[in-house]
Amino acid sequence: MASRYYMLLQLLLASPLQASEASGLPFVINTWGGVFTAATDAAYLALQDPATSALDAVEIGCATCEANQCDGSVGYGGSPDENCETTLDAMIMDGETMKSGAVAALRRVKNAIGVARHVLEYTSHTLLAGDLATQFAVQNGFTEEETSTEDSLGRCAEWKAASCQPNYRINVTPNATQTCGPYTPVPLNSTSPSYSSLIAPDAVTTSHDTISMIAIHSSGVMAAGTSTNGASHKIPGRVGDGPITGSGSYVDSEVGGCGATGDGDIMMRFLPCYQAVESLRGGLSPQEAADDAVRRMVTKYPAISSGIVVVNNKGEHAGAGSGWTFTYAFRGGSMNETTVVTVPPIDSIQSTLRYREQLQL
Ligand code: GLY
Repeated sequence: MASRYYMLLQLLLASPLQASEASGLPFVINTWGGVFTAATDAAYLALQDPATSALDAVEIGCATCEANQCDGSVGYGGSPDENCETTLDAMIMDGETMKSGAVAALRRVKNAIGVARHVLEYTSHTLLAGDLATQFAVQNGFTEEETSTEDSLGRCAEWKAASCQPNYRINVTPNATQTCGPYTPVPLNSTSPSYSSLIAPDAVTTSHDTISMIAIHSSGVMAAGTSTNGASHKIPGRVGDGPITGSGSYVDSEVGGCGATGDGDIMMRFLPCYQAVESLRGGLSPQEAADDAVRRMVTKYPAISSGIVVVNNKGEHAGAGSGWTFTYAFRGGSMNETTVVTVPPIDSIQSTLRYREQLQL
């Protein structure tokens, strides 16, 4: 009876997952669907010239999104922090060498993926941060300029006028769910009855997103990258999952790649893209690997908004997400245009059932 119940429940909950056959090389996939296909197209068209590397394609694709300020969540003029400043996170990874370059909380430079590429190509480091990443960028010929816009400053002013709601402060006084700071930490061993009323919502998950892209050159060489302006009203200095290798994206030409979008504060605790690529290596399909990586997060954080795309080195791909319906886009082989795939949220029961099935419980 119980197993029939689970089978029925599984059928009811089965989402119209849209894992796709390989469409051929070269191939580009990324977390931006909908009307924002310009990044996919730019990377795919660049790869038509075999002299363009997979790394070049990822840089071109993500830079297109940065320049277009995709949905306000990538590039300059989006996600103002508590001080109303837009700062950028980006990383890029070479699937041949496993080398990655990244910038975190980059200030006053618009082309974050370009600076990340310079970290990869012109240093032995992996990650540079803040003002000193800006200094590196300027030394490497990037322009230091304003990354806020009238629009982002206006949205920040509205947020301040609304008592700085929502925000990411917890365990502080005055109550962060009602007022702006400055805040003072509340002792964590406090047994004061008012203590719990000072705890803000666990996460503010509706105000950010990311472009994460994987490219496969016609030779089979792969690269991946991520660019984002993070989370609106973040605490200054906050770095999300974007520039974290294995979280924002990850790639190994021998196996495949992964790109992520969603609540980076939580996602970076799970390295979902590292997990997914290693699952591919272990024999899971792209869909199984994507489901598994999301399930691990949903199990601990049922309300998390997450999305990942996973592609193996043949160009077979799938997506999985939670807490929202997200779209991803791909273009490969001789496709005339980019195709957008809608990925419904996996819920915790479905996730658990899939996991049980995999384990043959
Ligand atoms: N995924 C974007 C961020 O949380 O920064």
